[in-house]
Amino acid sequence: MRKRLIAGNWKMNMLRGEAGELARGVVERTGGLAEKIDIILAPPFTALDAVGDELRGSRVMLAAQNVFWEERGAFTGEISPGMLADAGCSWVIIGHSERRHILRETDEMVRMKIGASLKAGLRVIVCVGETLGERAEGHTIKAVDAQVVKALTGIDIDDPGDLVIAYEPIWAIGTGHHATPAEAEFVQSAIREIAGNILGDLAARIRIVYGGSVNEENIRDLLAEPDIDGALVGGASLKAESMASIVETAGEQ
Ligand code: 13P
Repeated sequence: MRKRLIAGNWKMNMLRGEAGELARGVVERTGGLAEKIDIILAPPFTALDAVGDELRGSRVMLAAQNVFWEERGAFTGEISPGMLADAGCSWVIIGHSERRHILRETDEMVRMKIGASLKAGLRVIVCVGETLGERAEGHTIKAVDAQVVKALTGIDIDDPGDLVIAYEPIWAIGTGHHATPAEAEFVQSAIREIAGNILGDLAARIRIVYGGSVNEENIRDLLAEPDIDGALVGGASLKAESMASIVETAGEQ
């Protein structure tokens, strides 16, 4: 049985004061469930310490939204896996579509980031997903297959709990149009098969979560699908009430 996982990706939102308050609200409402399911908050870099302070003593975990693949050196503006661990992060989100598309991150950069992060002891949520155009042309699986293969080839994973794949169809992000549970399941079961070609038996034990307009209303039906092990939540994670409600549903099993 794979442990469910709900992660809140706050993106470029929340000043330190607001972030601490939101984290406190999430811990107060969901802390009791954090043994049963993995609950993760991913604030912007500037609020990692403020949120980390609120998470101390709880089992809610801290994630960064990005990382660089080198450990130190002349890389102005970048932050290494070791620095994230030092700042209290146990997780990092890698290859989010906003980074791939707006910041021009390539599959090779994603692969290097995953390798460096795992090596530094961070756990990784790697995002994949097709564009609206790829979907319209019937190329969803082809697009996702290429991303998964390029992300995972040559990566060493000891513990399947250390790697999570987030299926985030780009047309569903921030649009209010989520994939139907059946659509998400179709792609996520394909992702598990693709991962199996690379990781072998471990693929049955890694978690694959869905992201894209997840909210309190649609989470239950999404989680009813066998290959949807949780959610990467954007907009709905910015309010303690909606984040808590999603976590509570995930905790029901
Ligand atoms: P929304 O939940 O706002 O659609 O964002 C999804 C996402 O990109 C999470 O990483």
